[in-house]
Amino acid sequence: MIRIFVLFAALAPLAGVARAQNFPEKPPKPPLGLAKVHWPEDNPYSKDKAELGWLLYFDNRLSGDQTVSCASCHSPKKAFTDGQAVSIGIKGQKGARSAPTVINRAYSTLQFWDGRAESLEEQAKGPIANPLEMTLEKEANQAHEASMAALRAVPGYVKRFKKVFETDKFTIDDVAKAIATFERTVLSGNAPFDRYQAGDKKAMTAAQARGMDVFYNKAACDSCHIGFNFTDGSYANIGIGMDKKDPDLGRFLITGRDEERGAFKTPTLREIEHTGPYMHDGRFKTLEEVVEHYDRGGIKNEWLDQRMKPLKLSKTDKQDLVAFLKALSGEGWQNIKPPTKQQLP
Ligand code: HEC
Ligand code: HEC
Repeated sequence: MIRIFVLFAALAPLAGVARAQNFPEKPPKPPLGLAKVHWPEDNPYSKDKAELGWLLYFDNRLSGDQTVSCASCHSPKKAFTDGQAVSIGIKGQKGARSAPTVINRAYSTLQFWDGRAESLEEQAKGPIANPLEMTLEKEANQAHEASMAALRAVPGYVKRFKKVFETDKFTIDDVAKAIATFERTVLSGNAPFDRYQAGDKKAMTAAQARGMDVFYNKAACDSCHIGFNFTDGSYANIGIGMDKKDPDLGRFLITGRDEERGAFKTPTLREIEHTGPYMHDGRFKTLEEVVEHYDRGGIKNEWLDQRMKPLKLSKTDKQDLVAFLKALSGEGWQNIKPPTKQQLP
């Protein structure tokens, strides 16, 4: 009897892994250091919905020529980005901006470098209709219809959508809701920084602890990268791109407010060690280059944020600051694996 029990205990985890991504019945508990995830009233968590979103996220059939999925540009192997300065979409086309990570996007409403999408649900519809990213069509409606037609032709999807959304004719909004539900489970916490904050003073190295002091005091990085997710959720011009002939004007293109020319969203710094190249145009390959940019006080231009000043950091300060940024590498997202061919409907 005991022997049988031991055998079962040993096999159970394996069986789980082989079946599918294990989404819990209740919304997953975020790792140490993170706040509770807000689940929208019109799109609450469910295990089946998260699993459906996970399948869609990795499915090339969402794109016009069935070659590109969300994961092409936001891959779990690359901390949910693509390791490229700018992304490559359908037919090998280059986009204009760098792909941000999907990790911890649950904690913001506005999405994209310029905040043009109001939610993860709205965001997910963007790439499916973007001719540079996933579609061969010119109109958003046609693009969405084309990928709906591809999905409706897959009996496994029809079944899953029926179970989750209780409909035979699922729409692009249902697709977006499922993908957003999955995305809200892609988290990073329990980093050395979090364990240090929770009282384990050995969790960070001496250099990281000194770097933390540079971050919060000498360099005041937290005047923008604030809180548990290291972002104020706002937009700032730190000079990136303003040195180009035809600068990307970022947030200004959405709001038309003059003071927002060249302003981009302050990104999270969690997993920053794994999400380079950095900035909206992917210009910096290393964190050392990023720190040099801030040490210089950014790139001068008429709209430069007033918080950007030359920092006069010593060589050790800079090394410590980079070490601290690496203390923000945590866990959670590593558990997410792409579906195997057999698991895709
Ligand atoms: C061809 C590459 C590519 C594909 C495919 C792609 N993305 Fe993106 N994604 C990007 C780029 C580039 C941006 C930034 C664009 C911008 O800000 O203007 C982005 C932005 C995002 C953001 C906003 C992140 C933030 O920090 O604001 C999310 C979330 C996201 N993508 C999820 C998805 C999902 C879900 C899919 C599939 C439906 C998808 N992406 C498909 C390249 C891609
Ligand atoms: C005035 C607000 C502000 C301050 C102060 C600030 N940042 Fe940023 N940070 C931003 C914005 C905005 C971006 C994105 C800019 C862009 O791409 O145009 C950014 C981008 C970054 C990136 C790249 C993130 C990515 O995913 O590409 C890193 C790393 C970073 N900041 C670290 C720091 C450090 C370290 C400090 C302190 C020395 C600091 N920041 C101070 C606003 C700020």
